[in-house]
Amino acid sequence: MADRQELTDGEEVNTEQASSEAAEVTMDRIVSLCKRRGLIFPSSEIYGGLGSTWDYGPLGVELKNNVKRAWWQSVVYERDDMEGLDAAILMHPRVWEASGHVESFTDPLVDCKECKKRFRADHLEGDRCPECNGELTEARQFNLMFKTYIGPVEESAAIVYLRPETAQGIFVNFENVRESMRRKLPFGIAQIGKSFRNEITPGNFTFRTREFEQMEIEYFVKPGEDEKWFEYWVRERFNWYTRYGIRAANLRLRPHGRDELAHYARGCQDIEYLFPIGWSELEGIANRTDYDLRRHSEFSKKDLTYFDEQEKRRYLPYVIEPSAGADRGALAFLVDAYREDVVKGEPRVWLQLHPALAPVKAAVLPLLRNRPEVVSMARNLHAGLRRKWKVVYNDTAGIGKLYRRQDEVGTPWCITVDVQSTQDRQVTVRWRDTTEQVRIALDQVERYLAERLDA
Ligand code: GAP
Repeated sequence: MADRQELTDGEEVNTEQASSEAAEVTMDRIVSLCKRRGLIFPSSEIYGGLGSTWDYGPLGVELKNNVKRAWWQSVVYERDDMEGLDAAILMHPRVWEASGHVESFTDPLVDCKECKKRFRADHLEGDRCPECNGELTEARQFNLMFKTYIGPVEESAAIVYLRPETAQGIFVNFENVRESMRRKLPFGIAQIGKSFRNEITPGNFTFRTREFEQMEIEYFVKPGEDEKWFEYWVRERFNWYTRYGIRAANLRLRPHGRDELAHYARGCQDIEYLFPIGWSELEGIANRTDYDLRRHSEFSKKDLTYFDEQEKRRYLPYVIEPSAGADRGALAFLVDAYREDVVKGEPRVWLQLHPALAPVKAAVLPLLRNRPEVVSMARNLHAGLRRKWKVVYNDTAGIGKLYRRQDEVGTPWCITVDVQSTQDRQVTVRWRDTTEQVRIALDQVERYLAERLDA
């Protein structure tokens, strides 16, 4: 189908494989790439920033949207036992009493009497300040929920919380969804949305922040079938990360010890990723039993039991909860994709992102910007492609530089239009990973990308 050619600017087509080297990926490199290339910026930067808050820039919002879309694709569209939901962030304050968060969603906090720094007591190894060796105060429990007020009067009766997990929006809608969608067990409800926690020690870039996005499933099952579904969801979620490009060697499962289980959980497995800060939680899969539905039944006085038509009896479903972070997920995909290699003697930084996650799918690059017929062909191609995907047009530098810029943000394909294209109506498509180039017919470009993107 396609043959190779020499590009008109004299750059030889590279047929050799780029020599990939395992680069040491530090968080600093990732932070700097993110800032430089419009992925993630410090929030409120012109005011000096607000600690541990981050804004997704033009390419970051694409990456995070793609992560969320890939998750929704696999857990909602590709299944017939799942419904979607988008519940409000502000909920009735009784929700958080019922869920146990008012009472138990706390971390033990200690202050250093000398340097005044704050730490989570359960993260410290000794009983002296890790910064200055000073004396620490007694630990006191600190509730992580952000409070605000509904309406103009700041009184205790008006207190509401910013949700610390999206899960509760699902539990309080269990009956609405089941009934309106005529669902039978087992079935799940999936939701993506912001959550807020007044973390004592946020940090490590977007790994732990006070405002973040979760992608959560509550999967309702018959009691007694919970262990089976728990195992199922652990496998399913592990495989999702490898499907979208994370190397299995950088993922592992870690069961929670009894002492670290959340107040609602009977069992929990973390999927951990080897971040530059070491193995850390990417997602937790918990067996929440019937804890939440039971508590909401008690507090709301509404019957949330399920009538099992086969067994002719009512019971409260058990719940398996795969709970992932969209920001942490995006960070893991970025870190795992980071590559450094040398192409034709030139060092290159590039992202081997799965095409479905890449912020930009293709770049259309005219080789000569002072030739109107080349420019107009490239512009037309761009106009057609961008109706389907995020595709950019760029003619602001030499082709080598343009390739590097696209490699650095993980753009899978660069499409060049040259003088010969205006005669033979063919363009050159370059594949990011190998820098290999193929010549294809102009009217086949859309199909070429679709076959690879929609696979
Ligand atoms: N509903 C269960 C739940 O919220 P979690 O383990 O506290 O469980 C689930 O949170 C996921 O949410 C974590 O695995 C992580 O990916 C993400 N997450 C939690 N706290 C976060 C924070 N402070 N910053 C960024 N992501 C966070």
